Amino acid sequence: ASDIPGDFDHVLYTEEQVASRIREVAAQIDADYAGREILMVGVLNGAVMTMADLCRAMTSHMSMDWMAVSSYGAGTKSSGVVRILKDLTKDIDGRDILIVEDIIDTGLTLSYLVQNLRSRNPNSIEIMAMFRKPEAVTCPLDVKYVGFDIPNEFVVGYGLDYADKYRNLTDVATLAPHVYAS
Ligand code: PRP
Ligand code: MN
Ligand code: MG
Repeated sequence: ASDIPGDFDHVLYTEEQVASRIREVAAQIDADYAGREILMVGVLNGAVMTMADLCRAMTSHMSMDWMAVSSYGAGTKSSGVVRILKDLTKDIDGRDILIVEDIIDTGLTLSYLVQNLRSRNPNSIEIMAMFRKPEAVTCPLDVKYVGFDIPNEFVVGYGLDYADKYRNLTDVATLAPHVYAS
């Protein structure tokens, strides 16, 4: 699932580097939540890989739920409009929520999500994002766990897509310019 010849410019993080960072973050989360049960909320579709690997690297008691939120559509730029496509299946009143995301770019998606979930009265809300772009620092978002801070390039793989493709790339890579042009 990792080779679609010619579509990528360069690899930012290999599968091994991602896996090793996931283990470090998982250990940190286990230590922080000792004795508590975490409700991990994954943001579809991008967070599927991060959720699958992170929760298996953790030893804490956890359960999972999913939301589908989309702000990008088919392009490479945020449309600026966040839409809920699928809501949580359970009540989160009194729960300790850990939102799991693949990437924070503008921070728009998570700002909206945190505000939305906070109104449902959870005990706590924290964020784990595998990747974070520079622009995210302008957003007043309290992100407790970050995998990697990355440069402002359009990256794909490990759940991250371009026009819904390349999510199954096991490395994280930048797209070759000819892919945008077509
Ligand atoms: C992407 C990504 C984050 C969000 C980050 O999702 O997975 O959820 O954009 O961008 P932001 O910080 O500028 O809001 P997208 O809307 O593309 O949906 P997807 O997860 O299904 O790809
Ligand atoms: Mn997403
Ligand atoms: Mg996307």
